[in-house]
Amino acid sequence: MKTLDSIDVKNKTVMVRVDFNVPMKDGHVTDVTRILETLPTLQELQKNGAKIVLISHLGRPEGKVDPAFSLKPLVEVLKDQLTAGSIYFSDQPIGGGLRSLVNGMYPGDILLLENLRFYPGEESNDDIFSQHLAALADLYVNDAFSVSHRAHASVSGITRYLPVYAGRLLEKEMTTLEAVLTHPAKPLMAIVGGAKISTKLGLLKNLGSRVQVLALGGGMANTFLYALGHSVGKSLCEPGQAKEALMILETLKSNDCQVILPQDVVIAPNLESGHLSAVVDIDRVPSDQMILDVGPKTVKAIQEAIHQAKTLVWNGELGVTEVMPFDQGTVAVARSVAEQTKSGTLKSIAGGGDTAAALHKAGCFDDFTYVSMAGGAFLEWLEGRVLPGVEALKR
Ligand code: 3PG
Repeated sequence: MKTLDSIDVKNKTVMVRVDFNVPMKDGHVTDVTRILETLPTLQELQKNGAKIVLISHLGRPEGKVDPAFSLKPLVEVLKDQLTAGSIYFSDQPIGGGLRSLVNGMYPGDILLLENLRFYPGEESNDDIFSQHLAALADLYVNDAFSVSHRAHASVSGITRYLPVYAGRLLEKEMTTLEAVLTHPAKPLMAIVGGAKISTKLGLLKNLGSRVQVLALGGGMANTFLYALGHSVGKSLCEPGQAKEALMILETLKSNDCQVILPQDVVIAPNLESGHLSAVVDIDRVPSDQMILDVGPKTVKAIQEAIHQAKTLVWNGELGVTEVMPFDQGTVAVARSVAEQTKSGTLKSIAGGGDTAAALHKAGCFDDFTYVSMAGGAFLEWLEGRVLPGVEALKR
């Protein structure tokens, strides 16, 4: 993979694919983490005399112009963060006038193009759209690992027309994930939670043959419990996936993988009435109650496994962490991971926007070996799939 170490960008125009898919409310960015993470690449390019054209998507506007998904509000954030150079914005990502705008820029200046997903050519990986984008620059840098699983024009198509390099953030993500997880110190443990098993089948199948311990929580554990014959009351559950769940358990067993499923759970009649919650064993969930978190016995079992593990990978929360007190299981487990990591006995990697937010809330984000902001890309990488954006960097 060629990185910024191997380019001379002086007086060149560098197109940088970033992931500015940030949370917004009423036209304001509510979390700037993803923007801050791209600063090392941008500052290095500025310092070395490049003109920068930034390209990104925001949300899923499905090929139509939708002001709610405009990247324009990000200009102010960039201006606050970057003191060198001028920051420009173009509401058109392609077109004749843009070329002269870029020609008029000075080294260190930045031009942010409007949301590429306003144009159908982005998601369809259209060749003409890719060529138009490429025509604005001399070099292309991918600094968006989190969108590298998408074969879109700005990630994949464009790489046919410009020399391609990895940005510092993408380099950091790949190096860390590969260093810790390609040849992990064993026992390797995985914690997989989140709402649905159907979105994580590939992950569960791939991890099943690689990990020595797998702890399951969140809504998706309910489907496993249901498949094993437990009543899950009104809980989130995918009965249609029960057969698949049993097959996964079978594979895990044949691979000698220890599976930790909830033994006890926190229940409530509905999600709002947190104060009415109770802890019950898994064979005692009443039909009018919902499972909303793992219980203390389950947390203890997971913590014991964490104490034995040398490497840990985590995706998905163990309960409904947005609603108190159903975050307690996730918080307790996150703290154990943080402690073991700090003591030097464990390397811990977590990924996914919701997981990262839960770790922030638990005050453990900085104590993990690495927390990737990538969601879908992190999962696909763990599943062992080829990521088009990363493949293009290897050419
Ligand atoms: C993400 O937030 O995971 C990336 O920006 C990708 O977004 P997408 O799932 O809409 O392609």
